[in-house]
Amino acid sequence: MSETVTAQRPVLEGHDLQRFYSVSRGMFKPAATVRALNGVSFSLHSGRTLAVVGESGCGKSTLARLVTMIEDPSGGELLIDGKPARVGDASLRSLVQIVFQNPYGSLNSRQKVGSLLEEPLKINTADDAATRRAKVEEMMRKVGLRPEHYDRYPHMFSGGQRQRIAIARALMLRPKVLVLDEPVSALDLSIQAQVLNLLMDLQKEMGLAYLFISHGLSVVRHIADDIMVMYLGRPVETGTAESVFTNPQHPYTAALLSATPVANPEGQRQRIQLQGELPSPLKPPSGCPFNPRCWRATDLCREKMPALDGPVDHRFACYHPLDDAPPSAPAA
Ligand SMILES: Nc1ncnc2c1ncn2[C@@H]1O[C@H](COP(=O)(O)OP(=O)(O)OP(=O)(O)O)[C@@H](O)[C@H]1O
Ligand SMILES: [Mg+2]
Repeated sequence: MSETVTAQRPVLEGHDLQRFYSVSRGMFKPAATVRALNGVSFSLHSGRTLAVVGESGCGKSTLARLVTMIEDPSGGELLIDGKPARVGDASLRSLVQIVFQNPYGSLNSRQKVGSLLEEPLKINTADDAATRRAKVEEMMRKVGLRPEHYDRYPHMFSGGQRQRIAIARALMLRPKVLVLDEPVSALDLSIQAQVLNLLMDLQKEMGLAYLFISHGLSVVRHIADDIMVMYLGRPVETGTAESVFTNPQHPYTAALLSATPVANPEGQRQRIQLQGELPSPLKPPSGCPFNPRCWRATDLCREKMPALDGPVDHRFACYHPLDDAPPSAPAA
């Protein structure tokens, strides 16, 4: 979290990114379109962490697939290190690597740790065996694995250790950006803190940029510099972590925050119970996508989609942000 990096150009930028999927609805119905991502813009600098937060199905992993160049956007533009990125562009691919939620599924269980870590070098570099070994041992040290772990198999490790192996593997090609798709959600709480601390140390040491994907806000409280709260494929609130945590404006953000445990019981927020389910992305509601679950919604919200608006360090897409009096507040 260096102060001097922000003047440089972003290492990752999304401009109005969209990703639509065509889904079959059975033999006699025309295919429908899922707007998994529908107008997402952001910029991420070296040494910084952008947290992308929202419920299941809001488009987080879709965004991850775009920025790791597994899929191209249906619209908008992705820039990696200032250059337009398209699937198949080998020169940019190694700059963005990903760590998945499940460290059990993401590592080949028949490969020893050493060989798992060496593999990206074998495929992508001309390094000889001795250089590869030295690089693997250095990375193992960086992530807190011991030299004797080199010849062990992933199944011999705990979840937290496996996630260290996955992080080491993602870093072998010295990427500039790491996409962390719920990297600690599958781990015990005490282990989560250790892995988050490791990630923050590695970020400082290597100047990494993180796109940190999370269901909830509590996990990203200490690691995020900036936050993007998503709902049904759209950002509903974006800004610095400080402004979003201390002064949330979108009711959806407030609901997510109220579900976040607070250390100091005096500072405990009022619990907001979200009503209803996330609407089907095949049939999004008209107007603001959050309106069917929103306790502040008015006719305007049901008719017209609010735009993401406000200063760069804190934008929100809401006609009735929390700083305004509730639209239906009873007269005093
Ligand atoms: N290949 C696909 N074909 C059709 N629909 C898809 C495809 N991939 C994703 N979707 C849909 O796009 C929406 C966003 O999915 P995505 O996986 O990005 O959500 P997510 O925020 O990562 O959810 P989770 O928290 O459960 O991982 C969902 O409605 C999903 O069903
Ligand atoms: Mg996902």
